[in-house]
Amino acid sequence: MISICKAKALKKFGLLILGAMFICFTCNPINAADKEPFTPLGAPSCASAACHNQNLGKGIPFSEYTTWTGFDPHHKAYAVLFNPRSDRIVKNLYNTGPGSAGATQLCLNCHSSNQGKSEHAGPGFSITEGVGCESCHGSSSGYISIHFTEKFKKLSSQEKEKEFGLTNTKDLSSRNKMCADCHVGNAKKGMEVNHDLIAAGHPRLNFELSAYSAQYPRHWKMEDDLKRYPDFNAKAWAIGQIESSKVALQLLEDRTSSFNGTGGKKSPWPEFTEFDCFSCHKDLKLNSRKYQGGYSNKPGSLPWGGWFNGNALKLVLEESKIKGFPTEVSSQMNQFNAQPDKVGQSCKKAIEQLEIAVRDLEKSPAWTKTQLLELAKKLIESGKINSEKGSWDEFAQLYLGLAAIHNSWDDLDPQSVPKEFTKELVILRNLLKDVFPKGFDSPSLFEDKFGLNPRNERPGETFSSVFRSLQAVLESNRR
Ligand code: HEC
Ligand code: HEC
Ligand code: HEC
Ligand code: HEC
Repeated sequence: MISICKAKALKKFGLLILGAMFICFTCNPINAADKEPFTPLGAPSCASAACHNQNLGKGIPFSEYTTWTGFDPHHKAYAVLFNPRSDRIVKNLYNTGPGSAGATQLCLNCHSSNQGKSEHAGPGFSITEGVGCESCHGSSSGYISIHFTEKFKKLSSQEKEKEFGLTNTKDLSSRNKMCADCHVGNAKKGMEVNHDLIAAGHPRLNFELSAYSAQYPRHWKMEDDLKRYPDFNAKAWAIGQIESSKVALQLLEDRTSSFNGTGGKKSPWPEFTEFDCFSCHKDLKLNSRKYQGGYSNKPGSLPWGGWFNGNALKLVLEESKIKGFPTEVSSQMNQFNAQPDKVGQSCKKAIEQLEIAVRDLEKSPAWTKTQLLELAKKLIESGKINSEKGSWDEFAQLYLGLAAIHNSWDDLDPQSVPKEFTKELVILRNLLKDVFPKGFDSPSLFEDKFGLNPRNERPGETFSSVFRSLQAVLESNRR
């Protein structure tokens, strides 16, 4: 079966390359890289029974299509625009009726392939497919008939992307960049979940590559990821920290300029999602944690960037001996009235720094077990120091880093991971998880129950004690 598929396409091989060159060199001689000459053909065009639809089972090569239709949340991304939550979001935002999210450009930008545009798409394309193969792998007109040939396979990921439009999903930095358009935001493409959307009912976007990769029902082999990166989980986390922060800074820079955001208006400034949600959304208690001496800034100012620019990022950059933490952006955003033009300038500089950082990290050799443990110790130390002041975001990011390192340690040398380490991490996770009350998708009990483990696995558990235990486990680990 597969040979039929290949034979047919091989015939087209010569033609297609010429076709692509024609578009690149003749129609758009000035800047071929800027223009996307490729068109989406739709998920069904990948779904021939001879190709990606052999239906051999979840995650098995050549069964990508059935893995996606059966298990991948992206397959439902368009359908969710018709659920009651979406109805509520568009009602709140635009006062439009049920089902209208499915025709709202802003929503389609992230919830369907090709940003919901079908004008120049192939006949098999439909926006109803949700986030399809080509959303992640690139519009396929340039590569569909050749991507399985030996000749094509010999090209580098970069060549495949530049010449034929097959997105580089192999390098973690470029993979993260691809996910981040939708999972962090890309204002230039009209993909933005700002406070307007969140207040209307949209979930907050807090992406982290390692965790989202672990949660994602893969249609490729984990071993392939491990071949490219023996320290896959930890590297995905570290590279993701830098790359997502870069994308978040780009979003901030775009927000500072008069970009047309939601609903064609000038972007709101300051944009509330840039700040710690719970600095505004909290009870006013005189004995609050911060009031008791936990302010890290001037009391009353808004702390910036909890998720994408916290201590986890700082530690990754330090570990890689790279400068690049957006200190200037941070100090400007932490002032009472951050000036958009100044912030925008600082973002530009910070993005350049982080670009260098992410390239260096991508090129660096895989971390050894010893290096992973050193990094884990630093994350734990940071948790310990901030154990009275930290926010939910702060601890959650540290937890995700530690979990990623734990998982890489397990990949590299499963016998040597102490059971106690796993156990302490589960306790840390529960401290973070159990503060989401039923019916909430936010950790609204975090302040009330600060560090009190609602499951009482160990009565009296606090962040400070769990970080101390974690530290003790690693200190006593001599193997
Ligand atoms: C920047 C891209 C982006 C935009 C714009 C966007 N979304 Fe989303 N949406 C996402 C992502 C990513 C998720 C998944 C979040 C997660 O779980 O981390 C999501 C999740 C959701 C969910 C929850 C999913 C579920 O299973 O119930 C709903 C509902 C939703 N979006 C509706 C909308 C509606 C309605 C609009 C337009 C008003 C919209 N979205 C605009 C990216 C976007
Ligand atoms: C959410 C993004 C996403 C979607 C949607 C998606 N993929 Fe993938 N796909 C990836 C990533 C990431 C990889 C792993 C990196 C790699 O091997 O290129 C991958 C790997 C693959 C591979 C293995 C490539 C190799 O060289 O071994 C194939 C084949 C594939 N995808 C086909 C498909 C098909 C067909 C669909 C639609 C039915 C699809 N993908 C949908 C992100 C996606
Ligand atoms: C074109 C936009 C887009 C791209 C690109 C994209 N996603 Fe998504 N992703 C979404 C949307 C929208 C949802 C919500 C879908 C739903 O709930 O049905 C989602 C949901 C998810 C979920 C489920 C989250 C949850 O809370 O259950 C995971 C995991 C995920 N994406 C991982 C990834 C990864 C990893 C990549 C990159 C390899 C990626 N996504 C690329 C738009 C995208
Ligand atoms: C600068 C202060 C501020 C920050 C920071 C902030 N918000 Fe808000 N938020 C508000 C205000 C003001 C409202 C409107 C309240 C009202 O109308 O009653 C609101 C409304 C909301 C609502 C609607 C709640 C309701 O019941 O009406 C949600 C959900 C929400 N915000 C989530 C978030 C999230 C998530 C973050 C962080 C990513 C965040 N907010 C950051 C000030 C803020």
